[in-house]
Amino acid sequence: MSRRSLAWAAAGLVAVALLGTLAWLARPVDLITVAPAPSPLVHDATTIERGRYLAVQGNCQGCHTVRGGTAFAGGRAIPTPFGTVYGGNLTPGTSGLAAWSADDFWRALHHGQSRDGRWLNPVFPINNTTQIARADSDALFAYFRSLPAVDAPVPSHELRWPYNTQMALRVWRALYFDEADPVAAARDAGATDALRRGAYLVNGLGHCSACHVPRNALGGNGDMLSLSGGLIPMQNWLAPSLLDPAQGGVQDWAVDDIVALLQTGRAANGAIATGPMAEVVQHSTQRWADADLRAMAAYLQKLPLTAAARQPEPKAPDTRALSAGGQRYEQHCAQCHGERGEGVAVYPPLAGNRAVLQGSPANLVQTVLNGGFGPATAGHPRPFGMPPFVLELSDQDLADVLTYVRTQWGNAAAPVSALDVQQLRAGAGR
Ligand code: HEC
Ligand code: HEC
Ligand code: HEC
Repeated sequence: MSRRSLAWAAAGLVAVALLGTLAWLARPVDLITVAPAPSPLVHDATTIERGRYLAVQGNCQGCHTVRGGTAFAGGRAIPTPFGTVYGGNLTPGTSGLAAWSADDFWRALHHGQSRDGRWLNPVFPINNTTQIARADSDALFAYFRSLPAVDAPVPSHELRWPYNTQMALRVWRALYFDEADPVAAARDAGATDALRRGAYLVNGLGHCSACHVPRNALGGNGDMLSLSGGLIPMQNWLAPSLLDPAQGGVQDWAVDDIVALLQTGRAANGAIATGPMAEVVQHSTQRWADADLRAMAAYLQKLPLTAAARQPEPKAPDTRALSAGGQRYEQHCAQCHGERGEGVAVYPPLAGNRAVLQGSPANLVQTVLNGGFGPATAGHPRPFGMPPFVLELSDQDLADVLTYVRTQWGNAAAPVSALDVQQLRAGAGR
């Protein structure tokens, strides 16, 4: 065969492969046949109460409730880089689970497929919910079925083409969705071994990797359970790597400190939960049973250590930024955080503070722009607030004061530029 006909033949093969892929992607959807439940569904009070607790652990309410609306009635808008999605109605209303069976519910959690055959959008953390054991799925279902029914319709997702197609979800699933082994899940869910139980909680119900995972342009990652840290889309908060003690890793913490952080929002070692993590503590982890928090802490301590790629030696801040930043600090920050960043009474120190020294300035920018409260928890009912500076400080002012804070009192992190601030501010819808 001549070169030219070879090239044609190759092109033809590629075309056939492409058409084949498209046909495969566009094939009609069948409902996945689910494996029969190992034990029959019970709707007794104990199971319902257990389901209620599991829903707290999974923070299902967060994404399935409109602010100020009926719990679990759905309709909460969740902005994504691809458009807006709405959490579904989990009450037994007509727009919710009225017609659902426990098998349908398990199909949604374990396989990521709705009762009508739709592939579910991965804003619903399917790589985590697939890790949930069948018995826990059934208890959750019993709980949701016990709630008062709400019939209000849930708005349709408003996603841009092609993200609004089932084909896009098929591609996403093929690339990034891994179904869990239900036998292993059942074993780990009931494990008395703290590490096993901890892994089950972190990877499954706790869905820690839903935020702590790095995401590419398609919102995916080859390992969606990775805890190696990532910027949360749209919010521009960095969920730090839990594998690196210089970021969010707790491998070298005492178990009591980890438990305190998750239970009260602050630890004796000075760490505080802020931004989206404060919400996790407030709505979920503060209400976990002590034994579950301890199991989770034991697992987090044993996560493999993987330091982030070494940052290049930070360049020295220029003198203009330092002197302007110093003035802003005196004016706006020193009364709470101390002249030398040492912290004053209830106000956290900024000198030697891990949160201040992160490679990415994302969380500092969000904290100073939007202010913040720690989570209100039983252990710490009235957290002290930090005022928002969004109206007072320009991008340049903010860059200067953060550069100052990151390079004084022994701190040695990279300076922050006005452009960094501008990029982090843009699109951060809070
Ligand atoms: C991070 C946000 C988030 C969390 C946390 C979350 N969900 Fe969802 N969930 C969603 C979104 C968004 C959808 C809609 C997906 C779609 O329609 O494509 C959804 C859909 C569902 C569905 C399918 C509803 C339907 O009509 O097909 C079920 C069932 C469900 N979630 C159960 C749960 C349970 C149980 C939990 C807690 C263990 C939970 N979700 C936690 C965001 C979330
Ligand atoms: C909604 C997103 C989100 C989820 C879900 C989430 N985190 Fe976080 N996490 C963050 C952000 C953002 C930060 C950085 C702010 C901070 O340090 O509090 C953070 C910080 C942390 C830190 C470091 C705290 C410090 O002060 O140094 C730990 C430890 C942590 N998370 C553990 C967890 C665990 C365990 C889970 C699962 C139970 C979890 N996170 C779930 C967003 C999230
Ligand atoms: C009225 C007192 C007050 C003032 C003024 C104030 N802060 Fe804060 N700051 C706080 C409190 C309280 C917290 C803890 C908030 C939380 O838990 O979310 C905090 C948290 C922080 C954090 C996060 C620390 C961590 O460990 O996560 C940074 C960074 C910070 N402030 C920087 C600044 C800077 C820069 C300024 C000046 C522009 C400033 N603060 C002004 C009270 C204040």
